[in-house]
Amino acid sequence: MIRILPEILSNQIAAGEVVQRPASVVKELVENSIDAGAARITIEIEKGGKSMVRVSDDGTGLSRDQALLAIERYATSKICDQTDLFSIATFGFRGEALPSIASVSRFCLVTKPKDADTAVRVEMAGGKLLQVSETGAPAGTLVEVKHLFFNTPARRKFLKADTTEAGHITDTISGMALGNPGVGFKMVVNGKPVRHFPPDQDLLHRAMLVLGKDVADQLYPLAYRAADINISGVCANPVVTRSTANRIYLFVNNRLVYDKGVVAAVFRGFAGRIMKGRFPVAVICCDLPFDQVDVNVHPSKREIKFLSPQPVYQAVAQAVAAALKTAQQNVAAYAGSRPVPGSGVSDVREKTEFAQPSDFQAVQSAIPWGPGRRSEPAPGFAPVPPPAPRGRPPETDTDIPEQHLPAIFGQVMGTYIIAEQDGRLVLVDQHAAHERVVYEKLKHRHTHLPRDSQFLLVPETLELGAGEADLLTGILPDLEALGLVIEPFGGTTFVVKAVPGLLAQKPVASLVHGIVETLMETGDTGIKEQWLENCLITMACHHAVQANKSLSLQEMASLVKDLFACDNPFHCPHGRPTMVSFDKTRMEKLFKRVV
Ligand SMILES: Nc1ncnc2c1ncn2[C@@H]1O[C@H](COP(=O)(O)OP(=O)(O)OP(=O)(O)O)[C@@H](O)[C@H]1O
Ligand SMILES: [Mg+2]
Repeated sequence: MIRILPEILSNQIAAGEVVQRPASVVKELVENSIDAGAARITIEIEKGGKSMVRVSDDGTGLSRDQALLAIERYATSKICDQTDLFSIATFGFRGEALPSIASVSRFCLVTKPKDADTAVRVEMAGGKLLQVSETGAPAGTLVEVKHLFFNTPARRKFLKADTTEAGHITDTISGMALGNPGVGFKMVVNGKPVRHFPPDQDLLHRAMLVLGKDVADQLYPLAYRAADINISGVCANPVVTRSTANRIYLFVNNRLVYDKGVVAAVFRGFAGRIMKGRFPVAVICCDLPFDQVDVNVHPSKREIKFLSPQPVYQAVAQAVAAALKTAQQNVAAYAGSRPVPGSGVSDVREKTEFAQPSDFQAVQSAIPWGPGRRSEPAPGFAPVPPPAPRGRPPETDTDIPEQHLPAIFGQVMGTYIIAEQDGRLVLVDQHAAHERVVYEKLKHRHTHLPRDSQFLLVPETLELGAGEADLLTGILPDLEALGLVIEPFGGTTFVVKAVPGLLAQKPVASLVHGIVETLMETGDTGIKEQWLENCLITMACHHAVQANKSLSLQEMASLVKDLFACDNPFHCPHGRPTMVSFDKTRMEKLFKRVV
């Protein structure tokens, strides 16, 4: 027999999609507050939101009639017709959040428009209306949700520990606070205020508060416009990384959403600066015409569909890359005077492992021409393979005045070059540094100069696995464009005929195996730019001077000079730092001259 479901049951079914946990309640209620024009929102929770979530705002409030309507399914003030559905500017539009939440909790709504004398109080339990009364309250709206899932034990069972649920709520609030920097947020956990974001902030200042101390002074603004796509936001210096993608916040027309393609685009923007397996920190705000994006994909509204995704991805990648490039050149404008970090062993250790932006700043401010501002080498420049053999002065394609380069003192552990520049101790990882130099040279050649191949006197034969052979066959023409000429020799056998000039003196077989292995591993032969990049990185890695190799002072000087002429001298192409530096304050701290 077919029958229409009772209203409470259908609300509970809808709740299954809209309300998964206390954090979803917080999200829906806070979104309603923002839609109601609130300037300040307070979120109070108890027991991870399981026993209570209370959200109060100073927004428009609702009259008695509107309040009663608001708890009805499909009651919304936000859209009227189908045209509105395709140009949604509010967070809510489905008219189901309040009735869904009310159907699985003990629910209370207290609301008052500014011009009303009294507030109305609506109480419900498990979706049943218990009482409607008049009460005194400030203008605005308060929604209290107690004992979530009290009448759906199966759902309640899936809730995690209080701290875990509270963590989800904090994340949700962080996201919404980032997306709405003009709105003030207060979060109170078990009676204790834990977070406070004042109203009227701009995104940069809000991001400093939300993302926390270790990121606060390392954020760079994003600004990019392409046709009708506008990208704004911030990204953190690549030395600040996380082990998951959950600190990449994406807002599309102010709505916090998740989109794999945008995350991949952020990675493309960070390319060459982030170590494998690590995730950058970024807040990406994409604004585009409402009819270019469908937000009605899922009841939780976390998923969206771009009408044409590629231009958006392209814009995001460019925005991030441009911000990092600018930051690299004018760090002073962004980092300003970095507060001296607190003392403590962990602090010292952290500071000594990676170059910090202030290091970038100091190192760079000492380079008047600045990395990235070198004049492009004339066509046909001779690529330098530093370190040059002992005794032969290395040729270089740059004309950096010697007095601006760091003074080199020597090498330790056969790997690190010790230098001083502008009153700072600078340590350079010779392999990472050389990798960067070779990579940029190869890339420059590939993009700006005619193909450069050196034919081998004795072509080298290679034996590959079946999968590898397939992969290689597919990319032979592209490898040839890079200067690596390989021909199939039947079956899984190949012959290497020529290699890029810069790599002429290096073992060929291991290079080709390296390229194929990297491609097999990353499996991204689909995106040509990406795998070409991987090929160049592998070539650079194979060619670069290894750790544990002693270098002459002259070789070191040549390497450092070339490094400082690079576009991105601070990271190897895999994203590791090429140099770390210590200013006087840090040295004094290490030696406890100051505390
Ligand atoms: N904090 C609030 N202040 C003022 N009005 C509110 C508030 N919360 C809800 N409302 C009113 O109640 C209506 C119903 O809210 P509800 O969240 O159920 O639906 P919605 O926001 O329209 O759509 P969605 O289900 O997509 O969230 C809203 O359209 C709005 O008019
Ligand atoms: Mg809503």
